[in-house]
Amino acid sequence: MDVLERADDRQGVVHMEVGEPDFSLPAAAADAAVAAVRGGDDDYTSSRGTAGLRDAISDYYDETYGVDVPPSRILVTPGSSAGLLLAMLALVDPGDDVVLTDPYYACYPNFVRQAGGNIVTTKLDPRTGFAPDIQGFENAVSRDTAAMLVNSPANPTGAVLSDSELGELAALSRRTDTPIISDEVYHGLTYDGDDHTVLEYTEDAIVLDGVSKRYAMTGYRVGWMVLPPGLVDPINRLAQNLVICAPAPSQAAAEAAIRADHGWLDDVRDQYRQRRDRLVDAADDWGLSMDYTPGGAYYLLLDVSDLPGDAFDVADVFLDAGVAMTPGPDFGSVAEDTLRASYATSTEQIELAIERISGLLEEDPTLAD
Ligand SMILES: Cc1ncc(COP(=O)(O)O)c(C=O)c1O
Repeated sequence: MDVLERADDRQGVVHMEVGEPDFSLPAAAADAAVAAVRGGDDDYTSSRGTAGLRDAISDYYDETYGVDVPPSRILVTPGSSAGLLLAMLALVDPGDDVVLTDPYYACYPNFVRQAGGNIVTTKLDPRTGFAPDIQGFENAVSRDTAAMLVNSPANPTGAVLSDSELGELAALSRRTDTPIISDEVYHGLTYDGDDHTVLEYTEDAIVLDGVSKRYAMTGYRVGWMVLPPGLVDPINRLAQNLVICAPAPSQAAAEAAIRADHGWLDDVRDQYRQRRDRLVDAADDWGLSMDYTPGGAYYLLLDVSDLPGDAFDVADVFLDAGVAMTPGPDFGSVAEDTLRASYATSTEQIELAIERISGLLEEDPTLAD
């Protein structure tokens, strides 16, 4: 956010620092939002979400993963961020541990701390493309663990948990009686295979998802939780008190996006895949590659350890050259010497960024002068 503020102060900077999709949302979703506003859809909804949206989400699980999720287990939230907060408040008592991977989404530790919990990390190996490590989770889980928090496709690495890894994680959860919180907000943006939800392996997990990333609807603030039956009422009570409901017109828009023709998402996914491949090649040319190809989301980590200064210094030099990227330390110790490049910006802007960084490094490959 600090890089974003400084980038916003300058003219013509290419924004690769934030995860804000550049695509317009599906037209049907925008139409539904307008119709809802014009139709006077301006009241609170049920804290669980509208019946129409929860039915659409339930059908989505059936069609996408072949999993039966009744609307009664779905709680609509103002963005998946609210779901994350509710999950933490429900599961974590002060002093409990929450196990997550390092690198992690920069906000995760803050959610855990708000509930009084401690984070325990399992470090991922860049040499394996940050492949999720089930043994690492097993080693990190103890009697103090309130939950394992997993994210696939992952921010900031783009790594994807395979279906067999999800199965192993579910087995570990059962064996150690440790709940899984699975953040699936980047589902739909998986480039080399199908998405798999942890719900294919267990009913006993909290799944977080939403329309922000998949349908380019970050500002609508609609997410959802899929809950184990025993957690529906307690978490709904928290939601009633703390967030009341997601915005009514946004819920109408989300329902239309989920029900709309999947061609929109297929097209968007193809474009992200092309951008990813272009950026992976550029990282190679720059000598900043971490030798991996992210399987999903829209981020790539670059290794800047050979450049002078720390990741913040390199981000400053890149910003001076007209390209904003996020310094890695926010994402954990494993990402300390990296920059995160987001390819959720247009292809033209990505080409401009590649031209600028290539020019910078050609002039002085060590950035020493
Ligand atoms: C991994 C991850 N989870 C959750 C969120 C929050 O998304 P939402 O807009 O649904 O609150 C983000 C946003 O960047 C994210 O990267």
